[in-house]
Amino acid sequence: MAGARPRALRALHVAAELYPWVKTGGLGDVLAALPPALLDQGVDTRLCLPGFPALLDAFRLSDAVRLATPFATERVRVALATVPGSKITAYLVDHPPFYDRPGGPYGAADGRDWPDNHRRFGLLDWVAAALGSGADPNWRPDIVQAHDWHAGLAPPYLRAANAAVASIFTIHNLAYQGFFPAGTFPELSLPAHFYGIDGLEFYGGLSFLKGGLFYADRLTTVSPTYANEIQTPAFGEGFDGLLRGRADALTGILNGVDPRYWDPEHDDAIPLGYGIDTAEIGKEAAKRELRRRFYLEEAAGPIFGVVSRLTPQKGLDLLLAALPALAGAGGQLALLGSGDRELEDGFGAASREWHGTVGVEFGYDERLARLIIAGADCMVLPSRFEPCGLTQLYALRYGTLPVVRRTGGLADTVVDTTPAALADETATGFVFDAATPDALAGALGRAAAAYPDRTVWRQMMRRAMTRDFSWARSAEQYAALYRELVDKAP
Ligand code: ADP
Ligand code: GLC
Repeated sequence: MAGARPRALRALHVAAELYPWVKTGGLGDVLAALPPALLDQGVDTRLCLPGFPALLDAFRLSDAVRLATPFATERVRVALATVPGSKITAYLVDHPPFYDRPGGPYGAADGRDWPDNHRRFGLLDWVAAALGSGADPNWRPDIVQAHDWHAGLAPPYLRAANAAVASIFTIHNLAYQGFFPAGTFPELSLPAHFYGIDGLEFYGGLSFLKGGLFYADRLTTVSPTYANEIQTPAFGEGFDGLLRGRADALTGILNGVDPRYWDPEHDDAIPLGYGIDTAEIGKEAAKRELRRRFYLEEAAGPIFGVVSRLTPQKGLDLLLAALPALAGAGGQLALLGSGDRELEDGFGAASREWHGTVGVEFGYDERLARLIIAGADCMVLPSRFEPCGLTQLYALRYGTLPVVRRTGGLADTVVDTTPAALADETATGFVFDAATPDALAGALGRAAAAYPDRTVWRQMMRRAMTRDFSWARSAEQYAALYRELVDKAP
């Protein structure tokens, strides 16, 4: 008799965001794309998410389990649902006192974090660990993969429960650490010895991020270069020592592009869909619309686009300082962003001073983001650090050449237009090194100087559009990591 086929590996992903329902940045995009790509690799993948109203309202729910938890007197319902538009099953932690609030996933509309975030995400992580320990009699994972600080307590809860499941913690951004006062520790129901240097303690408080970094069996981050950078004091945010100590457990796996959402041929936010052979016509139409939306004058030079959170990470203060050089080189700017007040004020003032050359809009606008990515000639990402960066990947997909700082995922995904890279036909963008306005100005100048040579530019657009940033490649690497972990398990 033939042996039974081994059952598929099961992976539970724990996170706070899921595009298109809950998203503050690239994390949401990743959680929408990676699980279906893993399913395609034969990994039976599920999600564990907070029961935000945006999810509960959009999903058709059934009851999974009701759990007595340390976070509520009543039992907490964990609902089961299929993520619309996919074959992915999600567990939603349905606890309205924690998740049904006006504002964002992490804070109120005024931007302030919810004061009980340790309990809100503590509950999420506790439930994930319970599922890892067999709370759902119908489905028990082999792997729990926790994303960013919001899921950082899942590995310690699993460890505390002695669960027979491997854990992975994925770092999307080391700068957000889920730091809470020491006094919150007793509310989390972890064994006392988990609070210490070898544990959750971090500078006199506790860090959810450190919970993931310290207790997970393996660590991943979203690009190979960032995996190296975070082991140095300059990028380690205080965790470089811990990360150097865990270097053998740490890998970088690049994010990809979700073709369901990012495909210039079928994008209803742009005037005319385009493929590789019709890119110039399609981009021309998008550019006309972009000029109209941002009050940019007709001009012969390139339009530089920005779609970004406005935080120190993204280095847009360098762009503000480099605007005279950008305009001097014949370029124009279309910027969409939201965040730091100072940067908004700075770009607002620049748009008045350079009316017709610099156009800005503040806020979060999905469709406008797509129009910029399609209509601009270049997207600018002068990030001080960038774990992966998705915007440059979307830009490449849309034939828009990225101007990026050589750091993290930007360094791993954009090939600079050097004479050598032009000769061997690999160049896809413009890369600079120092985090200074001058270095950025140099790259902007090189892009503007290259722009009039339509033959070379067209070749670069073509190359950019055909680069393989498929999620299948990333999912293959995650699946290999899962197998390694499961094979190793006692
Ligand atoms: P991060 O997660 O650090 O913000 P990423 O490049 O990984 O950086 O992901 C950012 C995501 O958020 C992209 O999908 C980008 O298009 C989107 N985005 C950022 N700012 C805005 C905005 N103001 N309006 C619409 N989309 C935005
Ligand atoms: C973070 C990083 C960004 C990355 C995203 C998704 O928000 O800042 O670089 O692309 O996570 O992994």
